[in-house]
Amino acid sequence: MTVAPHFQFKDGVLHAEEISLANLAHDHGTPLYVYSRQALHDAWEAYRSAAGDRDVLVCFGMKANSNLAVLNEFRQLGSGFDIVSGGELARVLAIGGDPARIVFSGVGKQTWELQAALQAGVKCFNVESESELLRLSDVAVALNLTAPVSLRVNPDVDAHTHPYISTGLKENKFGIDIDDAVRIYTLAATLPGLDIVGVDCHIGSQITEVAPYLDALDKLIVLIKALQANGITLKHLDLGGGIGIRYTDETLLAPSVLLAKVFAALDHHQLGHLQLVLEPGRSLVGNAGVLLTTVEYLKHAPAKNFAIVDAAMNDLLRPTLYDAWHSVEAVTPRTEATKKTYDIVGPICESGDWLARDRDFALAEGDLLAIMSAGAYAFTMASHYNTRPRAAEIMVDGTQAHVVRPRETVASLFSSETVLP
Ligand code: LLP
Repeated sequence: MTVAPHFQFKDGVLHAEEISLANLAHDHGTPLYVYSRQALHDAWEAYRSAAGDRDVLVCFGMKANSNLAVLNEFRQLGSGFDIVSGGELARVLAIGGDPARIVFSGVGKQTWELQAALQAGVKCFNVESESELLRLSDVAVALNLTAPVSLRVNPDVDAHTHPYISTGLKENKFGIDIDDAVRIYTLAATLPGLDIVGVDCHIGSQITEVAPYLDALDKLIVLIKALQANGITLKHLDLGGGIGIRYTDETLLAPSVLLAKVFAALDHHQLGHLQLVLEPGRSLVGNAGVLLTTVEYLKHAPAKNFAIVDAAMNDLLRPTLYDAWHSVEAVTPRTEATKKTYDIVGPICESGDWLARDRDFALAEGDLLAIMSAGAYAFTMASHYNTRPRAAEIMVDGTQAHVVRPRETVASLFSSETVLP
């Protein structure tokens, strides 16, 4: 068993759905991101069935994986999108996504991005500061349009996750202090070009407990009641994303568990009429992808054994940036040979260029490894560091493999650069 149901061993070889990863590596080279279409659908289904017949809009947090093929699957399944840039907006529009199902998050929206989203007609701007609110009002008035707004409030709850991906604490840069929210909503109600439609929060990522969500929800409910008392009524409540996935042996928070508790709390407070918006990213794609890599060299140094592979921190930044643990599987495990403990490292000229540490493997040069749970925050955080072309992306659908992004060429990496005359 691996951490990802659609990546399993068949006849001693790791497969993506019905296709051998060894064959994919042979046909397309490595490093290679491989996604499972069925895994996307299954992850979606967990949210859909949890929503039941309630009014829930799931807006895929597309920063996790913004390949057009991935977005198009979710569009077809009925998903909306949580965007954080004009670039992400352009991607959604490119696949024919419905702007009325887009929420626009982010602390630093630029004027051109506000304009583009207004002109597209997004569902909601999740406004993160008083200054942004004032700018949005000006931009909307100048375009003779009305901006639907929520305030993203910072509920000051601890999501018990890595500090870099925790966002709902007072010391984080995100959101508006919940204690200041009534004042800023009241200001919003007086500004031209704005239409108050909701309230929003996002407390962090890779959350595995329900309690932080319920703490945040309790605080939002108090706020919604205070707004009602001030004559401000809302249409939706956005609880953000953040549900974690299994990288190793994490206990999972199922969407059904979270939503049952959220609905119960809303009903209890006579707020069951509010549409619930969610912005899951990782939990929709994380275990729908792997990063395939080839062992180039084995190096047995006095203190450590290194497996030097052809993927690197530019392909998967999470281990070195967050000390993140990704499970690693040999695509064709050598059962007969003795295992050694390896650090799996890339070719980049940094000691921080590692993908996994202290893993027991029987390896030979040329072996293929699959770095699991690479469907989220892998390709989207990839860079060209060391002038390394970004790897190809493949989407497997049963027995079919589709190249959804070809490998970049080296020449393309600097084709637009010029030297001085
Ligand atoms: N909504 C907002 C406003 C967000 O900032 C995020 C993620 C999401 C939704 C989606 O959260 P998710 O469901 O994926 O947890 N690069 C880090 C994760 C950064 C998350 C940033 N915000 C990582 O690789 O762990």
